[in-house]
Amino acid sequence: MQRMPPRTESANAVNDKRPYEPAKAPVFRRLTAGAIKRRKAKQIFPVVTAYDAPFARFAEEAGIDVILVGDSVGNVVLGYDETTPVTMEQMIHHAQAVVRGTTRSHIIVDMPFGSYQVSDQEALRNAVRLVKEGGACSVKLEGGVHEADRIRAVARAGIPVVGHIGITPQTAGLGPGYKMRTHRDRLVSDAQAIEAAGAYAIVLEVVDAEITREITGMLEIPTIGIGSGPHCDSQVLVLHDILGIYAHSPSFAKRYAELGRETTKALRTYAEDVRTKRFPE
Ligand code: KIV
Repeated sequence: MQRMPPRTESANAVNDKRPYEPAKAPVFRRLTAGAIKRRKAKQIFPVVTAYDAPFARFAEEAGIDVILVGDSVGNVVLGYDETTPVTMEQMIHHAQAVVRGTTRSHIIVDMPFGSYQVSDQEALRNAVRLVKEGGACSVKLEGGVHEADRIRAVARAGIPVVGHIGITPQTAGLGPGYKMRTHRDRLVSDAQAIEAAGAYAIVLEVVDAEITREITGMLEIPTIGIGSGPHCDSQVLVLHDILGIYAHSPSFAKRYAELGRETTKALRTYAEDVRTKRFPE
């Protein structure tokens, strides 16, 4: 039997008469950063994290059209205590899976710790990798005034950027900790610097609710809150917290299921069935 030649670029361009097949769900068919920005103050939209194809598909089927491949993959999927060790390769690997599992949603991919802090060039190089290799529609990076140049460099290259202030988990464990952020002047100047640098949205993580209200009112870009109260243009939660995968979740999260308990129960029943020869029948 004759085997099909591998679909190398040259074979495709010169010899291959089959129609060109673009990658599944190309980025231009997805909700754009511009459309998300225009939702500001008009349409509150839910955002959820996802790290693999099936759960990304569940989110899309549930009508959630903005999905974050968070570097929280480090704690919730990869077994680290924090997000700090997560690498570019890991983010690309999980981003690809989420992209394959969806067709219309906007996929934001986190830039992991160390991938953007060193220089504008490195930030841009790594943002380009997340788009080209990971299939990201936009990228997110943590930090305010100090990271504004990085945001500007990435946004100027045409890659939409989401900012992230308040608790910034990549560095929280290195010093500032996980307490609610209440320094109004610093938070406001960080948010303004991120907007001025060209971000199209901003995550506010565990920021005082009144300060969040003020920031949401003063910015033209949507605020996406997590643990920052109701005065945001959008809310985001970590998938595993929503689904109740772990025994404990942050106090601000709402558990909409108890899948951790259900999963253990199902596996216990399966194990018992095998041991007692109830399965296979
Ligand atoms: O990595 C993540 O999941 C996040 C959200 C908590 C906003 O950044």
